Amino acid sequence: MPTVYLNGAFLPLEEAHVPVLDRGFIFGDGVYEVIPVYSRRPFRLADHLARLQASLDGIRLANPHPPETWRTLVLDLIACSGEEDLGIYLQVTRGPAPRDQAFPTEVRPTVLIMPLPLGTPPARLAEEGVGAITAADNRWLRCDLKSTSLVANVLLRQLSVDAGCAETILLRDGWLTEGSSSSVFVVSRGTLLAPPKSHLILPGVTYDVVLELAAGQGVPYALRPIPEAELRSADEIWLTSSTKEILPVVRLDGRPVGDGRPGGLFRGLHAAYQEYKRTEMRGGGS
Ligand code: PDD
Repeated sequence: MPTVYLNGAFLPLEEAHVPVLDRGFIFGDGVYEVIPVYSRRPFRLADHLARLQASLDGIRLANPHPPETWRTLVLDLIACSGEEDLGIYLQVTRGPAPRDQAFPTEVRPTVLIMPLPLGTPPARLAEEGVGAITAADNRWLRCDLKSTSLVANVLLRQLSVDAGCAETILLRDGWLTEGSSSSVFVVSRGTLLAPPKSHLILPGVTYDVVLELAAGQGVPYALRPIPEAELRSADEIWLTSSTKEILPVVRLDGRPVGDGRPGGLFRGLHAAYQEYKRTEMRGGGS
């Protein structure tokens, strides 16, 4: 039974309980992070904590801890887990209060940190690629906040499960935004493209890593709006996230992407990502 951290205590998962009036349960009034841990080292923890702060600012909830306390709690939980590689799930809600949409006058935030199986896709998927479908992005207009209100993402993700695919790639008014739980990159005429950060996409930590690695490798890239036609005629499409790392999409809505196999730019960046992870594990630090 994994050990979790809940509101100041480390305890077994089955003993961790939250009141039914918690606003996270009643309204999805909270934010979260998923942080990969390799060889017991949290990967890009500072970036995840910075995005947590931005999400908390976005929902007007004071951060219950300074970054150093978060770091200590995360490291303590990694030590408890005994695993080398895992995910750390961290959630802050506006806490328990009588049901009323308005903020409670006295806020007691609920803080949960728990280990997750990392769920990194098997190496086979990077070699073979995955299928994806497209759907209209019908989420709210603050997709930059990593909110626990995920019912739209849940419904969109299930569409790809129902279609036997790995992800649902979202289009808003004919423009690429992201996946239901990942960022999306496109390769077109030798240039790596991604939508620029805005309120319409989550600012992915892996997105930043991929762009840094692309710059380091001399891969030309541009951040600009990507129309649907460019997505559909792309030479390569990639999904990125803390759990997926980088995955090539080789079929979109049943049609091959490029020649239907993972592309050359993907192979280069995927290898660079694996190497970068190894450097971080050796103590590059984040
Ligand atoms: N999801 N966009 C959305 C909508 C996401 O949910 C995620 C990650 C990303 C990628 O962000 P990052 O590279 O920082 O993981 C983009 C996490 C893994 C989840 O909800 O489980």
